[in-house]
Amino acid sequence: MQQLRPTTALIHADRLRHNLGVVRSRVGAGVAVCASVKGDAYGHGAALTALALEASGVEWFGVALVEEGELLRAAGVKAPILCLEGVAVFGAETAIERGLTPMLFDLDSAAALHEVARRRGVTVAVHLKVDTGMGRLGVPYGEWGPFLDRVADFDTLDVTGLATHFAEAESDPTFTREQARRFRVAVQAAKARAFHPKMLHCSNSAATLGYDDLRFTMVRPGLALYGVSPGPGLGEGLRPVMQVVTRVLYVKNIPAGYGVSYGRRWVAPRPTRLATLPVGYADGYPRALSNRAEVLVHGQRCPVRGTVCMDMVMVDVTDVQTPVRPGDEVELFGDGVRVEELAEIAGTIPYEVLCGVSQRVPRREAGAP
Ligand SMILES: Cc1ncc(COP(=O)(O)O)c(C=O)c1O
Repeated sequence: MQQLRPTTALIHADRLRHNLGVVRSRVGAGVAVCASVKGDAYGHGAALTALALEASGVEWFGVALVEEGELLRAAGVKAPILCLEGVAVFGAETAIERGLTPMLFDLDSAAALHEVARRRGVTVAVHLKVDTGMGRLGVPYGEWGPFLDRVADFDTLDVTGLATHFAEAESDPTFTREQARRFRVAVQAAKARAFHPKMLHCSNSAATLGYDDLRFTMVRPGLALYGVSPGPGLGEGLRPVMQVVTRVLYVKNIPAGYGVSYGRRWVAPRPTRLATLPVGYADGYPRALSNRAEVLVHGQRCPVRGTVCMDMVMVDVTDVQTPVRPGDEVELFGDGVRVEELAEIAGTIPYEVLCGVSQRVPRREAGAP
């Protein structure tokens, strides 16, 4: 179907390469990068993103779901794909079929993988995950030794990696270092049992950029590759990959004292020139931005006035120096208005704003026809 409405998420693939370069320059040679492309690549479009990153030399990809791994394979991604959320019993067959690498942290999945692998006469590379303090996935730290002993019984499983995940690398160095210490102990325990995994990894974007000594042999950044700062002072040199733009739908003048949008939560204090934009919370522009965010019109910041509706939002263009007309381009977020800023205003994190850009908004590679 032809796209008639102008609201679009432009994906600047060249900036994926740029941000990967920033990460590489920080971690140095010899450390592999596993790009987190789960959640449709944080809303950027998984196939487009992964293919651009693979062409730029990313060694691994991380997905949450087996289905996301399948999608990448169907798109032609050849690099190893790590299923970060495991594959569960029901995903074992597909994971092996598609050449996905399961993250393993329970014996039921291990048994299911072993059974499928034995039937097919193959070995399966797996990464084992230990919980060092995140309290989400991963073998509890105290049960790691017995778990390793049981995994050793499955002779079709080739343990090529060990992993853990940090809970607050962006905010608590003491706890992060304690998690890293536990991870090192877990690695030693595996080596003592004659496992020799090459890939050792624990660092998300915040740890990748914020710590010199926690990179092991691979890092797992997501947010930083999308050009978004993973924490205070960590965003230097990153350029936002997603830019959400639209065009002015309608412009009119309202008199002082006139209310705007549902609930008339903004009343014009002076004669105002108002532009209506064809974007709302059904597109993922959070209603929490009502009366609080700004957009960019003709390069100038313009405040959102009144409540964000499902499909529309009004902005105040009274102070824009040049005449604003229907069809003029507007940036909702990108370079001029950063997604970090919108997330802060909406009381959430940039991940949620990016993932929240709905499927109604087409993703288009910037510069593509
Ligand atoms: C297991 C795992 N590794 C890596 C990442 C990437 O994290 P970030 O986007 O903060 O770099 C995530 C994302 O939450 C994750 O769950």
